[in-house]
Amino acid sequence: MPPIPLEISHIKLTRVAGDWVAGRLQEGGFAVDATVGNGYDTLFLAYRVGKTGKVLGFDVQKTALNNASELIRFAGRSDRVRLILGCHSGMASALSGYPKVDAAMFNLGYLPRGDHRIVTRPSTTIPALKALLDRLAPRGRISILAYRGHPEGPEEYESVAKFVQALPEPLFRVREIAGAVDGQKAPRLFLIENRGF
Ligand SMILES: C[S@@+](CC[C@H](N)C(=O)[O-])C[C@H]1O[C@@H](n2cnc3c(N)ncnc32)[C@H](O)[C@@H]1O
Repeated sequence: MPPIPLEISHIKLTRVAGDWVAGRLQEGGFAVDATVGNGYDTLFLAYRVGKTGKVLGFDVQKTALNNASELIRFAGRSDRVRLILGCHSGMASALSGYPKVDAAMFNLGYLPRGDHRIVTRPSTTIPALKALLDRLAPRGRISILAYRGHPEGPEEYESVAKFVQALPEPLFRVREIAGAVDGQKAPRLFLIENRGF
């Protein structure tokens, strides 16, 4: 069979988000997954920080954390991951005692194959972002993937867009990325970097 040609449409926003945060992570790093879900992003971060690093993950659903911990255990990476059952807006207290955050991921919306009524909301997403920005290391990075195809999505997208666009330059560098197939209901990715020292 001939090889499949690499086209830009095959590069997903999830992949861009991963590449972005990975660019700041190395062995011994500290990362946060603000929306653990089924644990794919948490596991990705766990690989990147290595065995001397740490990943803190938050989710409001026990089902999500059960799925995630099973995946992470299966991959043999539980040693560096701490999962917290609770809203990410309370992360300021959870982060105290930890080093500054090298990288964080928000994958907004609802749990795939889960209860679609339990979704991230701007009233807690924005406070969580603020808490993270307060604890972000120099050159630290945050990715926020916002889905606009579900009922609560557009409002959350607008709130996040407004918030990140108001971050002071040049202290923070912010980019919004659209997928190869864009449209009103298509997801958007925000990338933030702390340019401070
Ligand atoms: C799109 S999923 C995350 C996908 C996940 N990152 C992965 O790799 O599988 C969004 C998750 O956010 C969680 N969530 C919703 N509100 C939350 C909140 N206030 N704090 C933390 N997690 C929340 C949901 O329970 C859901 O599991």
